[in-house]
Amino acid sequence: VAKEKVSITVFGASGDLAVKKLFPALFRLRVEGLIPSDASIFGYARSKLPREKFESKLTAKIPSGASNEAVASFVAQCSYVSGAYDKIEDFTNLRLALEETERGSASQLRIYYLSLPESTFETVCRGIRNVLLPAAGESGVRIVLEKPFGKDTASYLQLSRQLSPLFPETNYYRIDHYLAKEMIQTIVPLRFSNPMLESTWNSSNICSVEISFKEKIGTEGRGGYFDGYGIIRDVVQNHLLQVLALIAMEPPATVDASAIRCSKATVLREVAPARFEECLVGQYGRSLDGKEQGYLEDPTVPAGSKMATYARFVLHVNTPRWKGVPFIITAGKALDEQKVEVRMKYRGGTHATSEKRAALYPGSAGEELVIRVQPDEAVLLNLNTKLPGLSQQPDDRSLVRTAISLDYKVKYPDVRLPDAYEQLLLDVFRGDQQRFVGDDELETSWNIVSPLLHAIERADAAPPMIYPFGSSGPPSSLHFPLSSGQSKL
Ligand code: BG6
Repeated sequence: VAKEKVSITVFGASGDLAVKKLFPALFRLRVEGLIPSDASIFGYARSKLPREKFESKLTAKIPSGASNEAVASFVAQCSYVSGAYDKIEDFTNLRLALEETERGSASQLRIYYLSLPESTFETVCRGIRNVLLPAAGESGVRIVLEKPFGKDTASYLQLSRQLSPLFPETNYYRIDHYLAKEMIQTIVPLRFSNPMLESTWNSSNICSVEISFKEKIGTEGRGGYFDGYGIIRDVVQNHLLQVLALIAMEPPATVDASAIRCSKATVLREVAPARFEECLVGQYGRSLDGKEQGYLEDPTVPAGSKMATYARFVLHVNTPRWKGVPFIITAGKALDEQKVEVRMKYRGGTHATSEKRAALYPGSAGEELVIRVQPDEAVLLNLNTKLPGLSQQPDDRSLVRTAISLDYKVKYPDVRLPDAYEQLLLDVFRGDQQRFVGDDELETSWNIVSPLLHAIERADAAPPMIYPFGSSGPPSSLHFPLSSGQSKL
């Protein structure tokens, strides 16, 4: 029966992302019957890979528990084409291979995943336009792009000027894998389906918002790539600003992709550019026990690099909802813990009620709402309660800080939280752009960090502060920029 034939071509198929994330995610979606069972998967890259080598890349990261039969049938769906990214003849070979699998189908949907450096985007998208369109033209094409998208506002705009004449915005799926993490996806329903929360989600009730990304690992062989970008471009401009936008935005008109993107872009336009004076940057050195190498000891990092592996700074969201509330961003590699979280610290009442609270319970603190993104996904509400047990004094006001905790592992022991790439690839197959980033959001997020990046990277700027691998960051970071909002759970 003639029907739609779907294919996905992964450009950059011999690279790390394809092997570690994309092929395992495609395998999983296939096993769960979430993508058409006859969808063809093509790997495309410059290296001439013999079939066995390609197969070992396909299966390298498929979990060992998978059935041999399922793996064999997945591998049988996958083909490899080697070629350059700028040669019409090579793209023509790919087209012939695609057409071969599409024979007899009434229509074709071709997904192209560019797991490639951004310097190739324009050439590859032009090649897709000129050589690889299916019969239906651009409506039968979806193009997935991976960050980095530029290095600052100017280079982003240049990239955007190259890509936008080639395809309309609806053809591009720009990945920010944080948008597909379970706890990031829960922010919109958590805010807008619980009026008790939403009614306190503002500067009258919240005194600070901390968004933190901490990794224990260093650059781990990616030093060459990382040194061209640094921590602010690597995780703040994209992942953390997307989180900030979801936390700070006004209610969207609906919960569909374009309405949410529009609310995010609107609030990002109201975020003042980050200021050098409100920023602390660091670079990790050797660990105190001498076992872990410092950033500059990574052979792929240029000698004397001043690139930041740690940054902590304040952002100000100039909307009526958030005026005066600092959004404190922390991001770092080679730290003492692995953690991504959003921490919203409540004022502990209006002026009058917080005075009353202080009189009744001196020393008590305001509530905190924590969205723990990873590890151990959870939503926590830190409250003050009576210290449990026998009270021995008439006027016992002993309090204990307790968390009401929605720990996903405990509450949903049987639910497997999928890898972000499974969700994103599924979205691309379905044509759902909600968890992808719009062109205007990217431009505004670059506007927020570009002046700061330029100030940090000025030749005469002070070098980053060195912190030991495995520590909590540069020594002064604990008191910067506020000593409040630092509590841990
Ligand atoms: C990537 C960064 O975008 O996100 C990496 O390039 C970082 O440097 C990674 O390690 C973190 O992603 P996750 O899903 O492990 O939190």
